[in-house]
Parts: sequence; structure tokens; C-alpha cells
Amino acid sequence: MQCAMTTNSTSSINSLTITRPDDWHLHLRDAEVLASVLPHTAKQFARAIVMPNLKPPVTTTAQALAYRERILAALPDGMQFEPLMTLYLTNNTTPDEIRRAKASGLIHAVKLYPAGATTNSDAGVTDLRLCYPTLEAMQECGMPFLVHGEVTDPSIDLFDREAVFIERVMQPLRADMPELKVVFEHITTSQAADYVRTASGPIAATITAHHLLYNRNDIFKGGIRPHYYCLPVLKRETHRQALLAAAISGSPRFFLGTDSAPHAKGAKEAACGCAGCYTALHAMELYAQAFDQAGALDKLNDFASVFGPAFYQLPVNSGMLTLERTSWTMPAELALANETVVPLNAGETLQWKVI
Ligand code: NCD
Ligand code: ZN
Repeated sequence: MQCAMTTNSTSSINSLTITRPDDWHLHLRDAEVLASVLPHTAKQFARAIVMPNLKPPVTTTAQALAYRERILAALPDGMQFEPLMTLYLTNNTTPDEIRRAKASGLIHAVKLYPAGATTNSDAGVTDLRLCYPTLEAMQECGMPFLVHGEVTDPSIDLFDREAVFIERVMQPLRADMPELKVVFEHITTSQAADYVRTASGPIAATITAHHLLYNRNDIFKGGIRPHYYCLPVLKRETHRQALLAAAISGSPRFFLGTDSAPHAKGAKEAACGCAGCYTALHAMELYAQAFDQAGALDKLNDFASVFGPAFYQLPVNSGMLTLERTSWTMPAELALANETVVPLNAGETLQWKVI
């Protein structure tokens, strides 16, 4: 791990109590996998923006509301958790569907997957211009647009796809729809952090814990490490530092989104392994570690619990969450339906623990 900022470590702080946080970008999947992963998230987070990239994707209000019921039914007795539902934008999503989603009061955003960009994105958008009437409806009713910000042009180097997306897609889109509320999801580059920090209009970004802690060397440390492979892929160290600076900057435009994405062990440890890191069990521990290394534990509360609700115009949670500086070991594997998932940091010692 890169510890460039350990000299600032807030190492005298041994306990941290923050407002109960929310996860503004999460994959819960469905059925038995949902039942396996949901308790991990519900233990830490009061609410989560639930990604719609199921097979088949969640494209209608009716499907999203039915999915919400399945999530609530999978929640163990005594746990409190509110799923904030999203729709998966396709070339065929209608403006009426957006208005129905908004009127439900339970659907909080619409997600853009450029077709082919990531896991279960085949039904995604092939040309954003086809969606302009629908995006106009979103702009009009204040429905946030969550953007997987990578071009899919195979001639663009994988590591450059986010930066190129800003020029080719994000800037033209926001010039045409200046009032559309946009979240640049799971940003991974200094270019994205700079864009979100300086652009005008309603824009924000989510940042994962793994992009704050790791760089692309971690994917290749001593061999190929598939559990560090996600999309957008980890970038070089300078980008990690830019993301960390954004996360601790105190700007309300940057907030927490884990992008925890469970894939069964065999689907990751394969000749063509799936993209996605599983962090739901230990998300707040990882964020605490990143903020601690940067000497910025005092900035974690706003990033994790205040700036997200402000962007989504939702109340801040009333409960609290306490983290303690305690060493503990991540299990090597966790149950995932009738298989297992290898979490990020499997078998490693972590320094913070949610109590
Ligand atoms: C996500 C997944 O597995 O659904 N994978 C990932 O690498 N982040 C999809 C996504 O958010 O891109
Ligand atoms: Zn995701």
C-alpha cells in the first residue's frame, strides 16, 4: 500500500464517532447473492444508492419498485436500511418513465452505462444524443444522472478512458443540459477530480475506498491480483493522490460511494476475470484508514454522511457510527449464495473497526 501521507497520520485518535453514513454507489445484485451481501452494507450504512445493472437490467419504475421490495424482504430482522432505487438508462427509456420514477418518490437517480463499458452494460446507451428528450425530462424534474464516465472506444487506452470521456461526453452533455444534476461515479483520475472541482452547475462525484488506498501497481504486485481489478481500473499513484486530496478537501462535491461489487471467487480468479471489488463488509474501515493516513479523520463525517444527502436533497441520518482503532483480520472468503466472494484485503490486517 502507498503511504505517502503517513507523516500526517492522525495516530493519536483512537476512536471516531460520525453521523451514520450512506453509500451513494452500491451493487446488491439479487436473490441469494442479495441475501448474502445486504447485511454487510446494512450494518454500516443507513441508505444506499442501489445500482440497476441486474440481468436483465432495472429499466422501469415497476421493476425498480419490485426490486426494492426484494431488498427489504432480504433484510434480516432488526436491521434498518433504506434502499434508494435507480433506473438503468437505455436508448429506449422514455421521458414518461422518468416522470413515473420521480412521482414514485422511491427512485432517486438514473444511471448511464455506456454500452460495453463494464459488468452488465450490454443494454446500455450507444449514443447519448438518442436520450436527449429523456435527459431533458430528468433536468426538468430534478432527477440526478449518475454517469459511468468511460468511453468505450477500443482505440483509447484503457487507462485514458475516463479522461477522454470528460472531453467527448461530459462537457458537451453538460453544455447542452446545464441544469441536469450529474454525479460522475467512482472517479479515478486527477482529470475527473479537477473537472468536478471546477465545473459550473450541479455536479458531484463519488469516490471509492479502494481508489483512495491503492494504485495500479497493486493489481500486479508479485503476480496478477484479480481482486484489485475493477472498472474504472485503478490508475497511477499521482491520480490516487489527487482523489485523496479531493476527498479530504471539504468540498461538498465529493462524497462516499463504495462501488462494492460482489463476484463469486471463480468468476474473479479466471482467465477472463470479472471487474469489481467487494468492500461492503469493511467499507468504513477502509475509508477511515485512507483519511487517517492523510491526517484528515476530521473530514470523514462530511464526506461519508453530510455531502451526499445534501446533493440528493435528503435529510442527514439521525443515528451514529463509531469506529475504533483496533487490529483485526479480514476473512479470506465470505459466503456468497452457495459460493464465496473474496473480499478486498482478504487475510490482511486492518487498523480500524466499526463497533
Ligand atoms: C461493477 C459491477 O460488477 O457491477 N464493477 C466494477 O468493476 N465496478 C460495475 C461498475 O460499477 O462499473
Ligand atoms: Zn458500480
